[in-house]
Amino acid sequence: MDLYEALYTTRAMRRVRPDPVPTEVIRSMLDAAIRAPSGGNSQNWRFVVVTDPDMRRRLGELYREAFAILRETVYKDLWERARQVGDEASLRVQRSSQWLAEHAGDVPLWLLAFSRNDPSGASIYPAVWSAMLAARGHGVGTCLTTILAHFKSADVFELLGVPDDRGWVLNAAVSAGYPLGRWGIAARKPVHRVTYQDRWGEPVPWEVNEPLYRPSG
Ligand SMILES: Cc1cc2nc3c(=O)[nH]c(=O)nc-3n(C[C@H](O)[C@H](O)[C@H](O)COP(=O)(O)O)c2cc1C
Repeated sequence: MDLYEALYTTRAMRRVRPDPVPTEVIRSMLDAAIRAPSGGNSQNWRFVVVTDPDMRRRLGELYREAFAILRETVYKDLWERARQVGDEASLRVQRSSQWLAEHAGDVPLWLLAFSRNDPSGASIYPAVWSAMLAARGHGVGTCLTTILAHFKSADVFELLGVPDDRGWVLNAAVSAGYPLGRWGIAARKPVHRVTYQDRWGEPVPWEVNEPLYRPSG
């Protein structure tokens, strides 16, 4: 697959079929992940691949509980306001997130990423994103989630048997499966509105009003 197609179309693909993700694809995702950079090349990461139906069901329950907390706290006002003003983009994310919460136990693959001794907290994300790009290359949709890490970390540690005295931190849980929907280019605020030239606040002398990559055909 073209590099730019992967970069531009790797969306939060939450709605996926329950069909298993082949081991070859899982291997490829992880093998791509560990090629990613980490601070000082420390590679202080561990990944847990969850495919066992009972483990997925239990993880799914935790995810649903975490989502309920999120909905009633962080996103309560935001999503209420989105409903009031008819902010369709936010409502789409809301519906899609809700779908994932309701089907979390049926998602065929969860990839959990842990790290330790990483004060920046940043070393794990290139690896996670590489796994997601590799999945995209195989036609597998993913969604990076952090609510399990925020709200249910201790339960996840217990469920997976992660030692809680070795400094491991749960950073992300990536859902993965064959998409129900279609791939598309992620809509974003235009780059010239979020980039400055040389000094904070100075506009760049160019604009990009349409994505510079367009899929052929
Ligand atoms: C750090 C981070 C945490 C996220 N956590 C969650 C999450 O817990 N649950 C979820 O459904 N999506 C989560 N997402 C996915 C975002 O909502 C998604 O990337 C964003 O809405 C853009 O989606 P799009 O690429 O399909 O436009 C997370 C994304 C990032 C980068």
